[in-house]
Amino acid sequence: MLVDGVPHRTIWLADDGETVEIIDQTKLPHRFEIVRLTSVEEAAHAIKVMQVRGAPLIGATAAYGMALAMRGDAGDAALAAAVDRLTGTRPTAVNLRWALDEMTALLRPLPTAARTEAAYRRAAEICDEDVGINEGIGSHGIELIKKASEAKGGVPVNILTHCNAGWLATVDWGTATAPIYRAHEEGIPVHVWVDETRPRNQGASLTAWEFCHHGVPHTVIVDNAGGHLMQHGDVDLCIVGSDRTTGSGDVCNKIGTYLKALAAQDNGVPFYVGLPSPTIDWTLADGVAEIPIEQRDGAEVSEMTGRTGAGAIETVKITPDGSDVANYAFDVTPARLVTGLITERGIAASSRDGLLELFPERR
Ligand code: MRU
Repeated sequence: MLVDGVPHRTIWLADDGETVEIIDQTKLPHRFEIVRLTSVEEAAHAIKVMQVRGAPLIGATAAYGMALAMRGDAGDAALAAAVDRLTGTRPTAVNLRWALDEMTALLRPLPTAARTEAAYRRAAEICDEDVGINEGIGSHGIELIKKASEAKGGVPVNILTHCNAGWLATVDWGTATAPIYRAHEEGIPVHVWVDETRPRNQGASLTAWEFCHHGVPHTVIVDNAGGHLMQHGDVDLCIVGSDRTTGSGDVCNKIGTYLKALAAQDNGVPFYVGLPSPTIDWTLADGVAEIPIEQRDGAEVSEMTGRTGAGAIETVKITPDGSDVANYAFDVTPARLVTGLITERGIAASSRDGLLELFPERR
């Protein structure tokens, strides 16, 4: 997608054909900086500190991390150590495990001399596949926006989204945002309510930045405003992303998603989830009980970082020194609150049967 009018992806192979470049998302929206990853350790660090984040991009970065680890004659011990290092970075987004499983299944049977080339090739494919998948989500999801637009007689469709399930969270296009970008490009008037998404402000810092660069009309709101807007008829549909969706349709996404889904149900607002198939964890049936919820550093809650009027980036403390803080990074929205799952193969009912209809090979 566009940054200052120039098309970008979030991750790419550098000109040397070996190292990998990413956009440092911890610096957005105030600075656009590119970081070079030269080792599996640096790839793991980038995932851990959230220079890259978002379920699909975490998977893509892990795949390139494996490629970086396979340079030279990397044997089974190096392969296992790389998987171990990357697995430990973030627990909730299942795309990480998916990408590492893909890479391991490909690389382990190969002679060590063949691993480097194969690893780079598969990492690049995973990136391209992600882009294709998100384009598919866009093609199916745009139909929902078209329908809402027709029902409103062309008045802008108000869509609420949470966190950043935009192109920055993927390799390109985004999941929740793919239908929005498509609608915008096709001239369907849309307006997006962007939840700020405390504590790390992925909505205010990243989704809003994306929309600024693409000219998508949007308004940043505090996380608790969504219910109020829905009560007043100001939200036509919600579209969010997912870090892990169970085979039964429970959706784990950024903390606060569940509350939006509850408010949506109370107000009859359709609540959709855009997700690529690698985000489905077919091994799980009960999201609340089984999905590991990442708990992050409390400083993300007790502090805020921003740009001062003088242009300096500063971090300030917002809680009393004596207060404990807790930082649950994700929550689970039960399938019963989800209107539909927008996948690359179509829109599934949020149930095992609904998903299996689109993915019969999982029966
Ligand atoms: O903690 P983050 O920023 O990695 O969380 C990201 C989200 O929750 C996204 O909504 C999710 O990964 C979907 S990305 C297309």
